[in-house]
Order: sequence, then C-alpha cells, then structure tokens
Amino acid sequence: MKKILVTRKLLQSNEERLKTLYDVKLNSNDELYSQKKLIELSEGCDGILSALTDKLDEDTINKLPKSVKILSNFAVGFGNIDIEAAKKRNIVVTNTPEVLTDATAEIGILLILGACRRASEGIEGAKASNWKWSADYLIGKQLTGTRLGILGMGRIGKKIAKIAKSLGMVIHYHNRSKLNPDKEDGATYHKDLKSLLSVSDVLSVCCPASKETINLINKETLEYLPKGAVVTNVARGDIVDDEALIDALDRRKVYAVGLDVYKGEPNLNSGYLKHKSAFILPHLGSATKETRTAMANLAINNLEEFFKTGNCKNKIN
Ligand code: GLV
Repeated sequence: MKKILVTRKLLQSNEERLKTLYDVKLNSNDELYSQKKLIELSEGCDGILSALTDKLDEDTINKLPKSVKILSNFAVGFGNIDIEAAKKRNIVVTNTPEVLTDATAEIGILLILGACRRASEGIEGAKASNWKWSADYLIGKQLTGTRLGILGMGRIGKKIAKIAKSLGMVIHYHNRSKLNPDKEDGATYHKDLKSLLSVSDVLSVCCPASKETINLINKETLEYLPKGAVVTNVARGDIVDDEALIDALDRRKVYAVGLDVYKGEPNLNSGYLKHKSAFILPHLGSATKETRTAMANLAINNLEEFFKTGNCKNKIN
C-alpha cells in the first residue's frame, strides 16, 4: 500500500476515501506545518497531497525524501510549488483544474458586485443601525453598461465573462492568445495589458501567478486604468503590488477594490483596512462543499492515475 502525507484536513468523505486507498497520514488538527515538519512527516511517503498553504520551494523540495514521487496539489493554482525544482528531482506535480471554475467565478462576481455597490460600507451601516435612507446614501457604480476588463481569459475568466455579460457588462480581455470567436462570445481582445487596462472601468484579475505575472498590477500599470476604476482579484495576491494599489485608492485613482487573495496570506496589507471601499474576503474562491469535495477527489484521482500509469493528465511539470 502506498503511503501518502496529507498536509491539511480535508472534508470527511474525502478522508474516508483516502483511508481505503492508502496508508495515509492525516492532519486531524489541521495544523499549518512548517517546512521542517512537512519534510519530517513525509519520511517514507510515496506522495504528498499538498495545499496552497504549503510553501514547497526549491529548498524544501530538495530536502524531501527520495521516496516522494508526486505532489498532488489540492488547488488549481500551483504558485506555492517550485515546479522546476520538482522536475529536477523527478517529482511529478499535479493540480485540480475545472472542478473549481464555477465556485471561483461566483466569488469573482461577488468581488465585482461588492466593490462596485459598496457592500462593505453597507454591511457596516446595517449592522450598526446608524443608517438613514436618502437619495444619495451609498451611491455605487452600476454594472449595467460598464466595461469589464478580464486579465486572463482561462476557464475562470470565461465563466466570469459569461455571468458579467448577463448582468449587462461589456467584456474586454487580455490573454496570451486571442480566443476563437465562439469562445470569445462577443468579448473584445486586447493584445497588450496597457490597451486592456485603458478600457477597464472594472478589472478582474483571473490569470495564474507566474514569474511573468508577479506584480503585473503595479504603480505604472495602474496608471493605465481610467480614473475611478474598480480593481478586483480572484486569482493570486502575488499578481498585485499592494502598496501601489493602496496608494491608488488613497489618491482616488482607484474607486474601490474587491479582493479574495493576498500576498503573504492570511496576513494582508493593513493599508486595505483603512479603506471603506475595500471589499475583502478570506480566500473563499473554491469554498463550497461540492467544490472542495470535487477538488479533493480529483487530487486523489491524480494520485491514483500516477501510481497506476506513471503519468497523469493533470501533471503540470
Ligand atoms: C484556489 O485558489 C486554487 O488555486 O485552487
């Protein structure tokens, strides 16, 4: 029986399934393992079912025992893993695409709505019972007719585009390559980031974090946005330079932000907290029972496929 380290507590049905398939080391207290502890616990294991909270950098990967042949990441993103370092050590890395598209796109839309319609201020006012209806109370930005710029038109970006279009938004996007017209569904392609940002009344960051996208939204690129734009990020915190975005909020260059992801999670730059116009969530993208169950099942299927065939269709390195 193969031996698997599971770094975070999963939903019960997924842990039950793992127990039937493997000699499994579960994390019943859901402790956040240090890199040292993760290395120790993986002793004698054939694979690790990791989570986005595990920092599997080059140093950690190089110290993993030789027995570890696969890192099955319980996430679609894999910015937490140095995939090149894993490749050098012949460790296969897999992710969980597709199953979380709908749930994450729902949160992407919530960020747009929450930021544009001043949900944070509204919730605060309602809870404090200190609000008074008036014709100009918490006037926000209407989505209908507003231009939405999607940075990264992958599965999640496309789903956000579809819902936003049904809300009357006008869709623009930037991607490495232009989509076929049937996939574009009326959206306008922008070959470069500057061109996309210049028409983005609302920006939705949906691209993966990679060497190319780290801090792509920065002091310089934020200036391309129309004045009073809304910036939302459902992808990864690393793509945004927080100081620059907070400065843009301070200057009212940016009207509001909607964020689900942060650099250095779970800590977020405290500059966001002083802005009432920041609608912030704690990385809830895939947090539904259906989706978390499907993600863990896919991470397990990836292990199964790899141990049976030596390969895996969700291999990313
Ligand atoms: C969630 O953020 C994921 O990458 O799965």
